Amino acid sequence: MKGIILAGGAGSRLYPLTLVASKQLQPVYDKPMVYYPLTTLIEGGIKEICLISTPHDLPRFKQLLGDGSRFGITLEYREQAKPEGIAQAFLIAEKFIGQDPVTLILGDNIFYGGDSFQRAFGEFKTGATIFGYHVNDPERYGVVEFDTQGKAVSIEEKPQSPKSNYAVPGLYIFDNEVLNVVKNLKPSARGELEITAVNVEYLRRGTLRVHRLPRGFAWLDAGTSSSLHEASAYVQTIEKRAGVKIGCPEEAAFRQGIVSLAQLEAIVGQIPNCEYRTYLDQEVIAEAKRLQN
Ligand code: DAU
Repeated sequence: MKGIILAGGAGSRLYPLTLVASKQLQPVYDKPMVYYPLTTLIEGGIKEICLISTPHDLPRFKQLLGDGSRFGITLEYREQAKPEGIAQAFLIAEKFIGQDPVTLILGDNIFYGGDSFQRAFGEFKTGATIFGYHVNDPERYGVVEFDTQGKAVSIEEKPQSPKSNYAVPGLYIFDNEVLNVVKNLKPSARGELEITAVNVEYLRRGTLRVHRLPRGFAWLDAGTSSSLHEASAYVQTIEKRAGVKIGCPEEAAFRQGIVSLAQLEAIVGQIPNCEYRTYLDQEVIAEAKRLQN
């Protein structure tokens, strides 16, 4: 399974913050936003990842994340010259995807809790898997409607009169057929290759699964000043209360077994003295050593 992080877009809703750093580089409490979706992919066992952003912002992402070896993964980078739709990501990353299935995650979506994604990655064979999450403002999202048997029957992008309260979060798993589906898509009225149109096509073919995410699961989107602030407050609350970090890719790589304890110690040794290093030193490395003895 390949992974794509889509981290472009105009970021206009966060102006003037986005004048010098794109939305997905903004802090969500104690780390850059992109750390959260990156961690979600690593926790799902995805080791080959391609990050797509604007020509302007791509150098900053490279500076931040490098070749991925710090996280036990390989990271490639691709440019999206103009924000011509989420589904365009598959065309931009076509060579990277090769013959494999692919998961696309939006760089401003933050997920926390449970193992729904890990299970979906493990079970995935063909077709498409997307998710439904109960929200109070479905009109801001792709909305999925279920029949009385719980089967998905329609998906609409930002409908004025939503047919349900189930929004489709920005994590999508597709088989390799997605490339053909996107090649046959026409741009929407707003001139974009819409991810919802891809999902609708899989639904039409009868190969779309929609898993409803459980209540205890958190999905935050950090696309406006308020939601960015709320996401930071949420992360701070959980981290302080539980003494664990959300969205820590070094830890996720270690727990996945793709970075050894010795490698993690070397990586942490490069981090300047800060709360992030103390966490990895004291909570992750020291705990692992205690368990070894
Ligand atoms: O957050 C989940 C929602 O994301 C889904 O429920 C919707 O179906 C889906 O269309 C999308 O809605 P948004 O209104 O959030 O889409 P937006 O145009 O804001 O793009 C989402 C992210 O993807 C944003 O961080 C910027 C990035 N992006 C977007 C487009 C259109 C790109 O990097 N390139 C693009 O061409």
